[in-house]
Formats: sequence, C-alpha cells, structure tokens
Amino acid sequence: MSKADDRVEKAGKRIGEVARSAEDVPRLFADLRAAFDRELATAHSTAEVESLRVRWLGRKAGLLNQVKNNWLLHAAAELKPQVGKQLNALREHVEHKVSHTLDAILARTEVSAEAVDLTLPGVAVRRGARHLITQTMEEICDIFRRLGFSAVEGPEIETAYYNFEALNMPAHHPARDMWDTLYLNLPGGAEPLLLRTHTSPMQIRVMEKQKPPVRVVVPGKVYRHDNPDASHSFMFHQIEGLAVDCGITFGHLKGVLDHFLREFFGPETRTRFVPSYFPFTEPSADVHGSCHVCRGAGCRVCKFTGWIELVGCGMVDPNVYGFVGYDARELSGFAFGMGVERFAMLKYGIDDIQLFFQNDVRFLTQFRR
Ligand code: PHE
Repeated sequence: MSKADDRVEKAGKRIGEVARSAEDVPRLFADLRAAFDRELATAHSTAEVESLRVRWLGRKAGLLNQVKNNWLLHAAAELKPQVGKQLNALREHVEHKVSHTLDAILARTEVSAEAVDLTLPGVAVRRGARHLITQTMEEICDIFRRLGFSAVEGPEIETAYYNFEALNMPAHHPARDMWDTLYLNLPGGAEPLLLRTHTSPMQIRVMEKQKPPVRVVVPGKVYRHDNPDASHSFMFHQIEGLAVDCGITFGHLKGVLDHFLREFFGPETRTRFVPSYFPFTEPSADVHGSCHVCRGAGCRVCKFTGWIELVGCGMVDPNVYGFVGYDARELSGFAFGMGVERFAMLKYGIDDIQLFFQNDVRFLTQFRR
C-alpha cells in the first residue's frame, strides 16, 4: 500500500485512533490534502476527474463524508471547532480544484475540436480604399497645408445670410442667380435655409471666429439645382481658400495658385489669370491652366483652346470685411474656389462626373492606392 493510500485509510478510522492530541489534527488534514493533490495530478480526462470527485465528495461513501462521520462527530468537545474548520477548508480546496480541472480539460477539447485546418484555402478579404474624390481632396489640401493653410469644414445646410448676404449679395440682388439654389421649405416661417451652393460661406464663418492672419482651405460638399449630365451633378465637392493679413496682394494670390497647379498637374503647367466677376471678390479672376493632355497644342479636353478653366478667385471685396468686423483699411486678402470632381476628371482622364456617384467598384478600384 502506497504512502498516500495509507494516509487516506485514516479517514475510515475514528479520530481517537489516529490523533492523540490537538496538535495532531493539522497534520492529519495536511496529509489528506497532499493525497488528494497527488491523485488529481494523475487525472487527465473528464471521466478520471469525475471518479475522483465521487471518491472524495460523494454524498455517502465520499472520503470527506467519512472524515465528517469518523473525525468530526467523534471528536472531543474541545477538538470539534478545530476539526470542523479544517474539514471545511479541505472541502473547499477539493471542490475548487475539481471544477477548475474540469474547466481546463473542457477548454482544451473545445479548441482541438475546432482546430484550424491549415490545408484549407484561406478566406480572401476584400481590401477597401478611399474614394477618388476623397483622395483628390486630401491631395489638394496637403499641397496647401505645406503652404501654411489649415483645413476646416463647415455646415452643408446654410442660411441665406452666409451663402449670399455676407458675401456681398443682398436679398433680391441678381448676383444670387449665379447659383441655382436648393431651398429648404421649413414650416412655421423660420429663417429660410438652403443647401450651400459653394464653400464660400465658410469664409464668413472663419473670419467671424478668428482674428487675422487667416490661412484656411475648406473642403466639402455643395449643392446646385442642376440636372445631372456628364458634367453636372446636384451635389459635388469644392475646396475654398482664404488668406487675410496685412499687405496681401494679388501677387501672393498668383504665386499660391501657380504653385498649387504645378504641384497638382505637373511642373510644366502654365497658368493665366483672366478677368472675371464674383460678388465677394474685387478684382476677380478665372485661372486657366495649360492643357496637361496636349500641352497647349489643342485637343478635345481643352476644346482646342490649349487652356482649361480651373479656379475662380480674387481679392476679398472690402464690403465683406464689414460683415465680420475686420478693418478693410488695414487688411487685405485673397480667396479662391475650385471643383474637386473637375480636378479629378482632368487629372485621371475621366469623362463623366456621374461615375463618381454610381459606386461601381469596377470604376472605383482603378484608383486604389
Ligand atoms: N464660390 C465661387 C463659386 O462657387 C468660387 C470662388 C470662391 C470665387 C472664392 C472667388 C473666390 O463659383
């Protein structure tokens, strides 16, 4: 008979036979605990652990029940508290170890049942990408960021005040007709709202909030009451630019846009500034870039002119400063605006603006970066 069995044997004997005094009690329980631990170490299956559980915790013949009957119930009155305490501690130990070991074995079997079969072909994950319009906006904003402009965004639902009035277009002024505007019909005669027709309202919002110097670009969606065709969409994207400080001149405007267009279309790009009109800039200009397809020789892209209209711009009209509390006698600045779809179409040779909004992956994946 092994030593462990020898110790366990004692559970079947009355306490008077195995312990002479109170000092022997801790030793008796320590022996039992060590015996249990050794048995548990050899149990590797749920069945083995289960029979161990019955052997130790079984209601009638379980070893701990024997300990209760033979030791606790027969202990002298002064020994009882100590034996009871030790027995409870041992029972807790056995219960905890049994359930813990069962959990561990189950966890191992679950893993092996679902084990990964490395011989199976893998699951292909489709890689996503940013939309070409997003990429183009980021590319444009990055160029201006390197010139010291920070990017800000603004609301797409605007008031007539920001979209027109503060941009030097009073109510009923015919200049508002330059943009076919989508108005929102709100109940209760609230202030009329509209979908912004350009990103220029952000000029006002930025200057209202911030003291000069100002250098911002504003990427975002704009809306026009237009019928969709190859070059029109009721929603498209613009990037606005605004720089205001002391001593800003038209020369700065030319230098910035010149640099920007060469960065975007390539170093051989030439620009020309053609007089134009916007209510909120004076003087105003349209910027033409030399056609990057035919390099100015004339082709279908530039309608055989050699030039492509790219940016609207000008020096901020002094009247605009009046709406934001800037002093027009001290300050000057320039503003510009451009259409993102147009830039992407020109750079990547896309001939239909609708392609950007149809979300056909065969189109979109061609521009995955
Ligand atoms: N907001 C103008 C447009 O949408 C473009 C522009 C912006 C012109 C800034 C001048 C200055 O047509």
